[in-house]
Amino acid sequence: MKKIQVKVPAHEYCIKTESKLLDNIGQEIKTLAPTAIVLITDRNVAKLYAERVQKSLEILDCTIHKIVLPAGEKTKSIEKLNRLWDFMLSKGLDRNSVVVALGGGVIGDISGFAASSYMRGIKFVQVPTTLLAQVDSSVGGKTGINHPRGKNMLGAFHQPSMVLIDPEVLNTLSEEQYYAGLAEVIKYGMIWGTSFMLYLEKNIVPIKKRQITALEEMIIRSCKIKASVVAQDEKESGLRAILNYGHTIAHAFESISNYKGYLHGEAISAGMIYACAIAVNRGLCTKRVYERQYALLNNFGMRLKFDEKMTSFNISKILKIMSKDKKALAGNIRFILPVKQGKVELFDDISREEIVAVLENEGSLD
Ligand SMILES: NC(=O)c1ccc[n+]([C@@H]2O[C@H](COP(=O)([O-])OP(=O)(O)OC[C@H]3O[C@@H](n4cnc5c(N)ncnc54)[C@H](O)[C@@H]3O)[C@@H](O)[C@H]2O)c1
Ligand SMILES: [Zn+2]
Repeated sequence: MKKIQVKVPAHEYCIKTESKLLDNIGQEIKTLAPTAIVLITDRNVAKLYAERVQKSLEILDCTIHKIVLPAGEKTKSIEKLNRLWDFMLSKGLDRNSVVVALGGGVIGDISGFAASSYMRGIKFVQVPTTLLAQVDSSVGGKTGINHPRGKNMLGAFHQPSMVLIDPEVLNTLSEEQYYAGLAEVIKYGMIWGTSFMLYLEKNIVPIKKRQITALEEMIIRSCKIKASVVAQDEKESGLRAILNYGHTIAHAFESISNYKGYLHGEAISAGMIYACAIAVNRGLCTKRVYERQYALLNNFGMRLKFDEKMTSFNISKILKIMSKDKKALAGNIRFILPVKQGKVELFDDISREEIVAVLENEGSLD
């Protein structure tokens, strides 16, 4: 078993990764001494893994309540959140009950928000089952739902009591979802030192084959990086922004395609290429940094550019979305850009011309 201790102000929790950990969830949760468990999952994950987790929870001396939500982003809604609150109240859950989120980022986000708000906050445990959730959304304490006016607009910071990761569950994940998660992994390789990037470059084949030791190593190293960032900046007032490398342009493309054209990770893959091109054009980093990132994404067969035609209409739409992004400060478009291999910094003085240049060039260097 591999473990990391995450330390944020006023809270400390453990991330554990091990094959077949799904059969030991009950054993792990025992230390929390729950009076009841609410196991929240989605329909796809329920079919594959709920029974195993339920069985493992049987060793706890408490009632287990299970609720299965539809799979997909639409579940992160006020209606479904209300359903969770209603379910928890109807079962008479008290403040020592524990929410267990079994699923991808959607289930983690809505379950965490339900836990953060139920009786002003109860404990919750993340059991992430997508690569994206294992390396990103389950760590860091951001929880929430969407509003018709914007994604992730309603939520709370609520740290989990533990994150329990079984890498074997990734075997049932679709190719698309797996590679979407891998984009966030490569992002960590680009933002935090040089050794993780080297590891990824040397382990393309085992990672593609989803070999369990490679998965474990990749997950734990990614979690370590996210945990280090979050420990220094829990509420995103500074350093945490570096986790948004590749996200500025990606968000704009996700938005113009109405969140239907690209999976988030797919957009990040191309987004990192465009961001790195801005950095090279500015003379912030060398071409070599761009080329290594490009080669790695390409070797994994990931998205290297966006599909939209760069008409002046589309370009002005993209710029408008970027300046409205909730992470944009006072209308300035913020970009996280590489300054050398393994190091990124925040820039909020990127001109429209610099952005237009990479959009027109589809992220390639002149
Ligand atoms: N809280 C955060 O810090 C944070 C960070 C990044 C993303 N997010 C959020 O995460 C969400 C995306 O998460 P996601 O990509 O995990 O999507 P998801 O939860 O929708 O899961 C993707 C699909 O995979 C299925 N699935 C899950 N595990 C499976 C498994 N082991 N085998 C087969 N199928 C499986 C799900 O049923 C679903 O259909 C978004 O809502 C995003 O906003 C949150
Ligand atoms: Zn992301």
